[in-house]
Amino acid sequence: MHWIEPLFPRFATLAASILLVAAAGSPGAQAQRRDTVSFDSASHVFRLDGGDTTYAFGVNENGEMQSVYWGKRLSGADRFAAVKASPAAAAFDLSVTTTPHEFVGWGGGLFVEPDLKVTFPDGNRDLKLRYLSYAKEGRALSVVMKDISREVFVTLHYEIDQETGILRRWADIDNRTNDSIVIEQAAAGTWNLPRGTDYRLRYLTGRWAAEWNLQEQPIRPGKIVLESRRGTTGAQNNPWFAIDHEGDNDQEHGDVWFGALGWSGSWQIAIEQDQLQQVRVTGGPNAFDFGYLLRKGEHFETPSFYGGYSDHGIGGASRELHRFEIDSILPHHPTPKLRPVLYNSWEATEFNVDEAGQMALAEKAASIGVERFVMDDGWFGQRNNDHAGLGDWYVNPQKFPHGLKPLIDKVHSLGMDFGLWVEPEMVNPDSDLYRKHPDWVLNFPGRPRTEARNQLVLNLARQDVRDYVAGFLDKLLTENDIAFLKWDYNRNWSEPGWPAAGKDAEKNVYVDFIRNFYSILAELRAKHPNVEIESCSGGGSRIDLGVMRLTDEVWPSDNTDASDRLLIQNGFTYAYTPGVMMAWVTDSPTWVNQRSLSLEYRFLSSMQGSLGIGANLNKWTPEDFAKAKALVTEYKAIRETIQRGDLYRLMTPESNSPYSVTETVARDGRQVVAFAFLHSSAELYPYPRILLHGLDENAMYNVKALAGRLSDGTPLQGSGSYWMHHGVDVDLRGDFQAAAFVLTRQ
Ligand code: GLA
Repeated sequence: MHWIEPLFPRFATLAASILLVAAAGSPGAQAQRRDTVSFDSASHVFRLDGGDTTYAFGVNENGEMQSVYWGKRLSGADRFAAVKASPAAAAFDLSVTTTPHEFVGWGGGLFVEPDLKVTFPDGNRDLKLRYLSYAKEGRALSVVMKDISREVFVTLHYEIDQETGILRRWADIDNRTNDSIVIEQAAAGTWNLPRGTDYRLRYLTGRWAAEWNLQEQPIRPGKIVLESRRGTTGAQNNPWFAIDHEGDNDQEHGDVWFGALGWSGSWQIAIEQDQLQQVRVTGGPNAFDFGYLLRKGEHFETPSFYGGYSDHGIGGASRELHRFEIDSILPHHPTPKLRPVLYNSWEATEFNVDEAGQMALAEKAASIGVERFVMDDGWFGQRNNDHAGLGDWYVNPQKFPHGLKPLIDKVHSLGMDFGLWVEPEMVNPDSDLYRKHPDWVLNFPGRPRTEARNQLVLNLARQDVRDYVAGFLDKLLTENDIAFLKWDYNRNWSEPGWPAAGKDAEKNVYVDFIRNFYSILAELRAKHPNVEIESCSGGGSRIDLGVMRLTDEVWPSDNTDASDRLLIQNGFTYAYTPGVMMAWVTDSPTWVNQRSLSLEYRFLSSMQGSLGIGANLNKWTPEDFAKAKALVTEYKAIRETIQRGDLYRLMTPESNSPYSVTETVARDGRQVVAFAFLHSSAELYPYPRILLHGLDENAMYNVKALAGRLSDGTPLQGSGSYWMHHGVDVDLRGDFQAAAFVLTRQ
C-alpha cells in the first residue's frame, strides 16, 4: 500500500502520484478502462466505480471530506468540478452545517447529525477533522483525517464491489493522544443524496411473530431515526433503508439508494433532511446511553455501513443486495453452500425431547427426503420448560441416558446430518451457572435484574464469560458429530451494567459484547470449519449484515403460519436474500391464527425460501408423507434457482392485497420459478395475469406446473417475449389457494 501524506492545502504535490485513467480511445473505452478507484488532483475528487454505480467525494478548501456524487455510473471521461464547501446560510447555519460531509466530527457549530463526537479528559468536546492523506489498493480506498490540533486520527475506509457497485464504508478512530478519550457517537459515515425534496423512505419494522413489515413515508424537513436500543439488532426496526423519488417509481423502475448496517448491537440510522434540503443518512452504533472509553494508543473500528444504487426500482435494489450478500458477505462467499432441507422438532415436541421420540421423528423426516435433522430446545440441563436450565450445557441424563451419540448415529444412519439448538448468551436464574456466577449477567449493583422469558443476559463483554461460552460450544462440537447450530437469543437487554469494568469503561459493553459475540462465532468456525450456524432471535430479531458474515442462515420469524409468512417473507427480501431465509412447513390449523391451510399451500409458501419442515410428523397421514416427499423432491430441483437467483416481486401481499406472486430467475437464466398465492377470491374475479420478468426475449421456454393448475390453453412452450408480455394465467379461486410453475429455457 502506498501512502501519500501532504497536508492540505498542498494538493499540487499529489499530482505526480495520481492514478487516473489512461486516457486512450473513445469515452466508452475510457469508461471500461477507468481504474476502480481514482483521484483527480485538479478537483481533489476521489471516484469509485463498480457495477452500474459511481461514487465520488472530495476534499474542499477547508480540508473537509465532502460528498460529490452517488448514482448511475458515469462515463470514464466525466470530470467533476473542484470541491467547494457550501456557504453559510446567514449566521445561523454555518458552512460546517450546510456542507454535505462524508464524515464530520462534532465541533465548530455543527447542528446536523455528527459522525463522531468525543470528550477529551480536559473537558474539550470540539473535534475538527481535516484531510491528511489517502491510500488506494485495488477496489479499496482509505482516507486519513486528523483533528486540527489533537492527535485523534480517523481513517475512512471505502471498498466498492465490482459486480453490484455496493460500497462498504467504515471508519477507524485512532487515539494517539496521551490520555483516554470517550467516544460518545461514532458512525461508519454519512451518505448524501442528490439534492431534492421529493424523496420517499422505505424501512422495515416489526415485533415478535410479526417481523419484516415494509413501511413507506415521504422524507420531509427534520429527522427520522431508525434504531435499536435493545443491545441487539431487534425487530422493531431492521438496519436497512431504501430511498427513492415519490411518484414515478415502482418495483422495477426508478432510482433507488439503499443501505444496510453490519452491526448486531444497538444501532441507529438517522435520515435527515436539513434546512437546505440536503438529505443525509448517517449510521452506526446507537448514540443513546453510549460512551466508549478509548484508551491512549487504542483504536476503535466502527461497524460497516453498506450502500448501493439501482435505477431498476426497489426490485433492482434488492437483487443487488441479494447478490452482494451471496458473493461477498456470507461465510464461504462467493460460493456459500446451498441450504439443506431440514427438519426441526420444536413445534412438534417443544421441550419434551427424548431419545426415542427424536429417533422416531428422524425416521419419518428421512422418509420424505430431509437432509438435516435438528433437535431444538429442551435437551440440556434441567430444561423441561422455559423456567430453568439455560446456562447448564450438559446433556440431560433423564432424556438422553447415553448422551447424544445414539441419536446422532441414528440420524446419520438415515442419511441426514445432525443439528442442535443452543442459546449461549442466556442464563436462567434457576441454573447451576447462575447459582455459581450471579455476577456474570448484565446488571446494576443493588438494582433488580429484570427477567424476560425467565432469563437474564450473560455479559459477553466479560472475558471470563466469553471464554466460558466459547469453551462449552467448542466442547459440544468436539465431543459430538454436530453439523449445525441453531443459535438463539430470546430477549433484549435490561439494566446494561458491567460493574467489573469500572465506571469509566462500563458503557464499552455496547460494543465489546458484540465484538465478543462475533469473535466466538469466528473462533468456532475456524475450529470446526464444517459446522454451519443459524442466527435466530425468537424469530428475526438478530438479522443484519454483521451477523450474516458469520452465520449461514437466519430464522426470519417464529410465525410459521404459511399465509402470514407471505407478508413476512416479502418484507424480508427487501433487505436479505431468500438463500438464507429459513421457512418451515408446520401444522394446520396453525398455532398462530387457527387457520387451516392445505399441505401444498404450506409447502409452496416455504419453498420460496430455504425449505424446512417443522410439523409434528407423528400426526401425518400416508397421503401427507407422499405429498411432502414429492414436493421436497421438486424443491431440490429448484433450490439453486431460489437460493441464488434473481428475485422479482411480481405481486406483493402488501396493503392487504389478496395476491402474492414471486418469480426467481436462475443466475444462468436456464430455469425460472414462479409462485402464486390467493388469499381469498371474490365475485368470480379471475386471478390477475402474471407477467414474468428477466427472461431472454428471444429464447424459448417450456412451462410446467409444479403445483396447482395453469389455465386451459396455456402453451407448453413460448418465447421469453410471450411469457413477459402475454404472461401466464393460473387457475386460482377460493381461499388460501396456491400454484407454482417452472420455465425451462431451451
Ligand atoms: C425461540 C425460537 C424458536 C424455538 C424456541 C425454543 O422462540 O425462535 O424457534 O427455538 O426459541 O425455546
